[in-house]
Amino acid sequence: MTWTTDNQKNLMLFSGRAHPDLAQAVADELGITLTPQTARNFANGEIFVRYEESVRGSDAFVIQSCPAPLNEWVMEALIMIDALKRGSAKRITAILPFYPYARQDKKHLGREPISARLVADLLQAAGADRIVSVDLHTDQIQGFFDGPVDHMHAQPILTDYIKSKYATDNIAVVSPDAGRVKVAEKWAHDLGDAPLAFVHKTRSNTEANKTVSNRVVGDVEGKDCVLLDDMIDTGGTIAGAVRVLKDAGAKKVIIACTHGVFSDPARERLSECGAEEVITTDTLPQSTEGWSNLTVLSIAPLLAQTIHEIFENGSVTTLFDRA
Ligand code: R5P
Repeated sequence: MTWTTDNQKNLMLFSGRAHPDLAQAVADELGITLTPQTARNFANGEIFVRYEESVRGSDAFVIQSCPAPLNEWVMEALIMIDALKRGSAKRITAILPFYPYARQDKKHLGREPISARLVADLLQAAGADRIVSVDLHTDQIQGFFDGPVDHMHAQPILTDYIKSKYATDNIAVVSPDAGRVKVAEKWAHDLGDAPLAFVHKTRSNTEANKTVSNRVVGDVEGKDCVLLDDMIDTGGTIAGAVRVLKDAGAKKVIIACTHGVFSDPARERLSECGAEEVITTDTLPQSTEGWSNLTVLSIAPLLAQTIHEIFENGSVTTLFDRA
């Protein structure tokens, strides 16, 4: 006698508590519901998660964004993955639209950690089989996880918006530091082979979020500058870059970033720095309240397409071929 099953795969979507609106938007795009769960904290801060339905044999996708308090949400993601592993999910994909600790991807000095690698190790130990993230701080973070990493790009979402709103014939694309010039090259190509410039930035080795924007390399005089970055945290880097661009004769500065971390005093700095518009995505929860030049674009369709391609064994690469 043989035992047969219909072998049907079962896609299940789970949301951490950090950014439920994004997870709901992804579920809506896919036309599915989020799996109900109980999640709560003990008095001492310990996190408890239990799924309300069987997850056995599922192709499980856990969406967790990591705004502040970031460590709390990283821990919750690990606990959610552990619960799935112990509940016999068949495959677990951790979707971290904003990869936590991405800036700590190498040692600058002796006796420093490589925390981005540690996060990958923790995800692996918890039971994640695959990671999906958007605009990692550096590409090599993909290699920190010993399994598939789908590194998605928000570039088409951001550049399509810019093309719909600004004339591309006077645009210059500007990287806020030398490290992002390669990404800026792709943007420049996407924005009609626009000229490229970068800001020479120096960073403090002793203080977090402390940088100095020195000068612009490239011609930006009279240009509408699209200043891009993967993330804006306190806004120091970007506001400094806007200042040097204006000093160099830029006509307008349009800021575009994937991850709007916006820790204090970013709102103040970015509202007052003289930028025409600040464009970001909702990889992290956002509010435009009281901030007139902020535009938030949704990353949910991209994440939904990515989940669809992974589940159907399709091609994720086709989703970022333009980048
Ligand atoms: C650094 O290399 C990153 O790409 C960002 O430019 C930086 O982390 C932003 O931090 P802040 O907004 O605090 O200057």
